[in-house]
Amino acid sequence: MTTEIESILVENRVFPPPEDLVKQANVSGMEGYQALCDEARRDPDAFWARLANENLVWTKPFTQVLDESSKPFYKFYPDGQMNVSANCLDKHLGTPTENRTALIFEADDGKVTKVTYKELLARVSQFANALKAQGFKTGERAVIYLPMSIEAVVAMQACARLGIIHSVVFGGFSAKSIHERTVDVGATLIITADAQIRGGKTIALKSAVDEALAMGGCDAVRKVITYKRAGSDVQWDAKRDLWWHDVIQGQSTDCPPVAVDADHPLFILYTSGSTGKPKGVQHSSAGFLLWSLMTMKWTFDAKPTDVFWCTADVGWVTGHSYVTYGPLAAGVTQIVFEGVPTYPDAGRFWKMIQEHKVTIFYTAPTAIRSLTKASEADAKVHPKSFDLSSLRIIGSVGEPINPEAWVWYYNNVGNQRCPVIDTWWQTETGAHMITPLPGVTPLKPGSCTLPLPGIDAAIVDETGEEVERGKGGFLVIRRPWPSMIRTIWGDPERFKKTYFPEELKGYYLAGDGAQRDKDGYFWIMGRIDDVLNVSGHRLGTMEVESALVAHDMVAEAAVVGRPDDTTGEAVVAFVVLNGPLPQGDDAAAVAKQLRDWVAKEIGPIAKPREIRFGENLPKTRSGKIMRRLLRVVAKGEPITQDVSTLENPGILDQLSQVR
Ligand code: PRX
Repeated sequence: MTTEIESILVENRVFPPPEDLVKQANVSGMEGYQALCDEARRDPDAFWARLANENLVWTKPFTQVLDESSKPFYKFYPDGQMNVSANCLDKHLGTPTENRTALIFEADDGKVTKVTYKELLARVSQFANALKAQGFKTGERAVIYLPMSIEAVVAMQACARLGIIHSVVFGGFSAKSIHERTVDVGATLIITADAQIRGGKTIALKSAVDEALAMGGCDAVRKVITYKRAGSDVQWDAKRDLWWHDVIQGQSTDCPPVAVDADHPLFILYTSGSTGKPKGVQHSSAGFLLWSLMTMKWTFDAKPTDVFWCTADVGWVTGHSYVTYGPLAAGVTQIVFEGVPTYPDAGRFWKMIQEHKVTIFYTAPTAIRSLTKASEADAKVHPKSFDLSSLRIIGSVGEPINPEAWVWYYNNVGNQRCPVIDTWWQTETGAHMITPLPGVTPLKPGSCTLPLPGIDAAIVDETGEEVERGKGGFLVIRRPWPSMIRTIWGDPERFKKTYFPEELKGYYLAGDGAQRDKDGYFWIMGRIDDVLNVSGHRLGTMEVESALVAHDMVAEAAVVGRPDDTTGEAVVAFVVLNGPLPQGDDAAAVAKQLRDWVAKEIGPIAKPREIRFGENLPKTRSGKIMRRLLRVVAKGEPITQDVSTLENPGILDQLSQVR
């Protein structure tokens, strides 16, 4: 690890929280926030115990808060038992929430379906009974490969109800990704749909599952349950395949939730690392749910009367914490959207906010930036052409939101009334960590501001010592928190090495560079490892490189990120072919072939924006590829760094010219 992290501070405007919000917010004013922080600092165990007792329903109360005996494999509430689905659904029975709308599902074509909490509980229970009838039991693993739908929420909740551990695979990922995850978790069940419909296009899903299972090594899979979404043709294996509508036939809508240990894995979600295959991040039941719920209440100031819309797909962690679990536990009404922000036009988000009277809106900077562009080109799709007066809070997640996008979002979507809540967190943290609170925090565009109460975030050097204010360093969390990653599924050593390196005093290493300003505000500067952030999603450079070299034509490949106005970073690949250097049209054709190949191997999100061919790659004498230099070349900038350790400096000229 190095500490060569340059800090950049660009914004110094401050936006105080709106008066009316401060008055009625769940956490009110800086005093309210400080009181919670003090409580957590004074006695962390008592703080986590109070929150868990007041906010979760326990089947068996816990007597211990934190088990540190085998750290960093921390356990929260180790002897307590509960059920996540009961905490999202059953707990609302007999309250005014039971008849409120839980989900407003808007399909790609605009068709709206509403489901109340009571109805959702019935659907979850019925599907859980169907899984039971098929012989699936607590502790087994299910891979879920579904589009954004009521069924996706039902499938995840039904697994949680039975203590079946789910692993959701994003619908944009390929058969290879399904295969890898199915094998890694040892899945016995796959839940999918015939197809998904996005932006007017029908994209097959079941066939990708078939392809994945045909790759071998998935013998544990007993059943594939398919939800009929599009009515597309599918291949059918009579022994293995079942229709969703058939399995629920005749099943009761009453299914007692299974009490599990607080630390029973709720789900495994794969995320990219700098080396090797994606990591299966394992989350707990109670701790994960507690923090998803607390952050709904604190970060989003959620009240049961709110209409909440998180635009994330259930394939990402944001869709776990802020679609399937947190919002339901908080009892809000939420939107589940099947489509894309630009279909039928780029006014779709704003039209939906207007129609459904959304009060809390949570999206990603990449969406904000692309919609900014679209609305500058066409006034009809500009947020100002819609009535967005129902909004009270607008949030951002996934990558640093650049001050320009922040201010546009604040002015045009929030109409200078709604705080922009820039939430920093990760798949591994389970829920928000560093974020403004709407009724508390003066905002600075581009900063995720201050840690939540109980979250001991700091910026340290490579020995774990805190750095001075204004200096860049590694972002760490010094104390465990309930929703933290428990381990990497099947690879505890990698978990320890990646997140708790010895030299950092046992702190959790987030993998982000950051700095704090004079007010203690955190500014995230990006990853310290070879992980790209494309449209708010993590992509390991290694994954793309492995996909490229798996192609017959490719001898070697190096992948770097280039800053991009819309997607945050764009993938740029440097490729050495087996054979002569392609020229002109030839090069363009090969590049297209390779881009399509990567899309097929990983998913369209990983497609290189640009491929450059060379006879070699810049390497040190020991053979290490110098990605640092390739990043400069990718940006089209001249090389000013020292290249004396390079084995083959001439190659840089070639890569700078050849496209
Ligand atoms: O680099 C940070 C960036 O996204 C990474 C986490 O990615 P992932 O696990 O896919 O989770 C995305 C949704 C939480 C972080 O390590 N990141 C996420 N949110 C922010 C951010 N960077 C700056 N500001 C944010 N608000």
